[in-house]
Amino acid sequence: MATKSVALITMSLRPARIGANVAAFVQPIFQKAFSAGNVDLAPVDLRDFNLPIFNENVVPAMVPAFAQFEHEHSRAWSAEIAKHDGYVIVIPEYNYGLAGGTKNAIDYLLNEWKGKPLVVVSYGAHGGSKASEQAKDILGGLGLRIAETRPQLAFADPHGEMAGILAEGKVADASRAKWEGQTDQIIKAAEELKELLLQPNDPANAPTA
Ligand SMILES: Cc1cc2nc3c(=O)[nH]c(=O)nc-3n(C[C@H](O)[C@H](O)[C@H](O)COP(=O)(O)O)c2cc1C
Repeated sequence: MATKSVALITMSLRPARIGANVAAFVQPIFQKAFSAGNVDLAPVDLRDFNLPIFNENVVPAMVPAFAQFEHEHSRAWSAEIAKHDGYVIVIPEYNYGLAGGTKNAIDYLLNEWKGKPLVVVSYGAHGGSKASEQAKDILGGLGLRIAETRPQLAFADPHGEMAGILAEGKVADASRAKWEGQTDQIIKAAEELKELLLQPNDPANAPTA
């Protein structure tokens, strides 16, 4: 098959976020799984797009066929997402659900990724299971094809580690060791994404041209 591009997107935005370290942890695992399958992995950082709370007048469902975004930040985010064939999103859990920044970034998009496959990788005190579930429901509802395996990376000692996590975005050795034990699950998610990339898109989910 022609080479496909998968974006590995760091979604958290805190200055001392741990999200970039979580993405750096999973990146080589996805990279290795993709290397045999003509799939390129492209790191993308939501922070680079400086998205304000959704401030477009148009409904993203109408872009690009019937309307255009007014703001440069929306056009840049839209263009970045549109250029990939699949996605791995790395998301934190805030307050028993999806972080506001993640939901806001999703609200800017539809046709850019509708029908394309996506893996959800979450992290949090208990692996971010609620955020993962919400991401699956929201993005699945938008017509993306969500890989069944959703790796959830929990901190080994959430209470003991939280000060370092919040102030420095630091992954404790014990957490890293715990996540290394989930390597097979991350590989499984990567294999599912590769499989989904090969399957034709459901015409009912085709982006509005
Ligand atoms: C506002 C806020 C709310 C949080 N709520 C939860 C939560 O509900 N469940 C959880 O597992 N962790 C929660 N945490 C802890 C985060 O999982 C942890 O701080 C993680 O590092 C956040 O990701 P980030 O560093 O990439 O922003 C919360 C952290 C913040 C800052």
